[in-house]
Amino acid sequence: MQMKIAILPGDGIGKEVTAQGVKALKAVLGNSRSYQLVEAPIGGVGYAACGNPLPPETLQLCRDADAILHGASGIPEDEQRPPQQQAGFALLLLRKDLNLFANFRPAFLFPELIGASSLKREVVEGLDLMILRELNGGLYYGEPRGRGFNTMRYTEPEVERIGHAAFQCARKRHKKVCSVDKSNVLEASALWREVMIRVGSEYPDVELRHLLVDAAAMALVRDPRQFDVMVMENTFGDILSDEAAMLTGSIGMLPSSSVGYGKKGLYEPVHGSAPDIAGKDRANPLASILSVAMMLRDTFDLPQEAERIEQTVRAVLRRGYRTPDIFEPGTHCIGTEEMGDRVAQAIRDPIH
Ligand code: IPM
Ligand code: MG
Repeated sequence: MQMKIAILPGDGIGKEVTAQGVKALKAVLGNSRSYQLVEAPIGGVGYAACGNPLPPETLQLCRDADAILHGASGIPEDEQRPPQQQAGFALLLLRKDLNLFANFRPAFLFPELIGASSLKREVVEGLDLMILRELNGGLYYGEPRGRGFNTMRYTEPEVERIGHAAFQCARKRHKKVCSVDKSNVLEASALWREVMIRVGSEYPDVELRHLLVDAAAMALVRDPRQFDVMVMENTFGDILSDEAAMLTGSIGMLPSSSVGYGKKGLYEPVHGSAPDIAGKDRANPLASILSVAMMLRDTFDLPQEAERIEQTVRAVLRRGYRTPDIFEPGTHCIGTEEMGDRVAQAIRDPIH
């Protein structure tokens, strides 16, 4: 079977980091598999090309692809544009059109980067948690919406399916789910909690607890290692995943996957387009490279290739190579391109 992958670099640093992700992909697949990469515009680049952040050809390509590698979508001009013309809107359309309702955002601390975290070593050492963000509903999509108002809304089946995704994920990890809501204030959250409890009863081997979102935000910086899988509404997940990312030293390290019922997935760094450093060869490409590893494991069932990428990233970090966001005195500061080349080279010819 030929693997068909849509490559959507998008805006700002998206282009630079995605190029490094593609290098890693090519290095790990070599000539051993048949694959097709097709690049297409999205976000601000899509809008500039045809007045639409998600051009119809790009959408069609994504519908036909097995997997999508996205860089970042967002440009400074977004602030002056109505929501439908903003770069990030393309992502919202894509997530919905492809039914990608489960967004996995792992926050994992590479031991080599412990000094890069803004938190104390004893708080973050060994950190390994998964934020599971509901991606097709909640405040992002609820109707009615309009000037000055939005609606947080969930149906029971929507909460059930993300609940099952959370418990199934926890079964492969440490068997703990923390469901995050705001059920002391929001009716939408009261339903969320009720359904989570019901779904949880089908997984007696997995521990379920609940936290209000404000308390969860605090617990994430006070004692993040208490968490295994955290599942939450779309907006809550957007916010808490940025917070969790910073525990690991840099948001530039974190990959993500967005999936639905099948094997198809959208893979992308958790970080944004960072226009302030775009084109300066300063961006960290490791989130994009690690997103490729997630793609190989989850869409294409190639766990060994995924592992090879992850091990190589660690080996390159162990050798002391760092992009500016994770630089510490005593390490070698290198650019985006060199980091990508070093990882690709070490995938082909392993270092230890
Ligand atoms: C993210 C981003 C997007 C979101 C933006 C770009 C629309 O912040 O993926 O976290 O809010 O979902
Ligand atoms: Mg976000």
